[in-house]
Amino acid sequence: MIKKIQTLTSLSLLIGAVAACSNPAETPSEDTEAEARKVLTIYSSRHYDSDKALYAMFEEETGARLDVREAGASQLLETMRAEGDQSPADVVIAADAGSLWRFKDAGLTQPIESDALNAAVPESYRASDGHWYGVARRVRGIAYDPARWNASELSTWETLAQEDKAGEICVRSSSNIYNLSLMSELIDRYGEEAAQDWATAIVANMARNPQGGDTDQIRAIAAGECSVAIVNHYYWIRLGASESEADQQVAASTSFVVPEFVEGSGSHVNITGIAVTKTADDLELVEAFAAFLLTETGQAYITRDTKELPLLASTPLPEGVDKVPTFRPSDTHLDVYGENQADAQRLFDLAGWN
Ligand code: FE2
Repeated sequence: MIKKIQTLTSLSLLIGAVAACSNPAETPSEDTEAEARKVLTIYSSRHYDSDKALYAMFEEETGARLDVREAGASQLLETMRAEGDQSPADVVIAADAGSLWRFKDAGLTQPIESDALNAAVPESYRASDGHWYGVARRVRGIAYDPARWNASELSTWETLAQEDKAGEICVRSSSNIYNLSLMSELIDRYGEEAAQDWATAIVANMARNPQGGDTDQIRAIAAGECSVAIVNHYYWIRLGASESEADQQVAASTSFVVPEFVEGSGSHVNITGIAVTKTADDLELVEAFAAFLLTETGQAYITRDTKELPLLASTPLPEGVDKVPTFRPSDTHLDVYGENQADAQRLFDLAGWN
């Protein structure tokens, strides 16, 4: 408890420090306010109203201006590659530790040295070399038809490899980062041979060729095309929270379970995180922004629309997310999702998972 208070205090100090530096009253009188205003350029793979509200709060609190550019993670990466040393990006926000690793692997990021961030973010949810930090969590699980299965029949990833699931599984393509990260953890825990065997069994049990995104897999269950689907928790939650009655019906006619790998192993958790670009120069402002995302307010807004799970356990769950069954995260360090990514794709290819 004491440690937590210290952590939050140091995060507040960080933000306060930036607010103090950028107080217009302290800038030389010949500077216009616009010139004195610090700018942080954010490349984000997200597109949510609650993020925009959060950015506005940071601007209000610190006096800095956020220039936010939104695009898919791979498009942002290609843009940064093309921009090279001239990239205006200071911060990247992207989903999946495996995706953040790609920015680092491409030489586009630099490590953050921050005791406050290190204290706030559990060790397994930040890169061990400081190149990215988690700011929200998500869990990959199984959506299913409750008329066909009960949760105890889907309690492990191994259950999807069993013969009774023949012709029952819907899942997206193996090149999708969520699947690559899941496979990367399988490799880390059980070795390449077991991981490939699992993937081969999943392919044998597929109801159709991999296609679409996670939401499409849940819709396919409701449409009777399959009875189990591998999806991240928030896609199922968002269908239930949708204004569309049809979406609500899809969610109501399906259930969601968070499997372990084997009984007692813990579950596959991933993050949305931030990385500091190599071209960022105002590291104090970057750190303050990261710290802001890890305040109670930051956590509430970063998860409000996405229906992710807060990284700080003290933050209440966003509306509707309490429908996700409680689970115990595995103790795998998320570095593994990047380190094993190429092997994961190779084994998926060998298994015939398109
Ligand atoms: Fe997603």
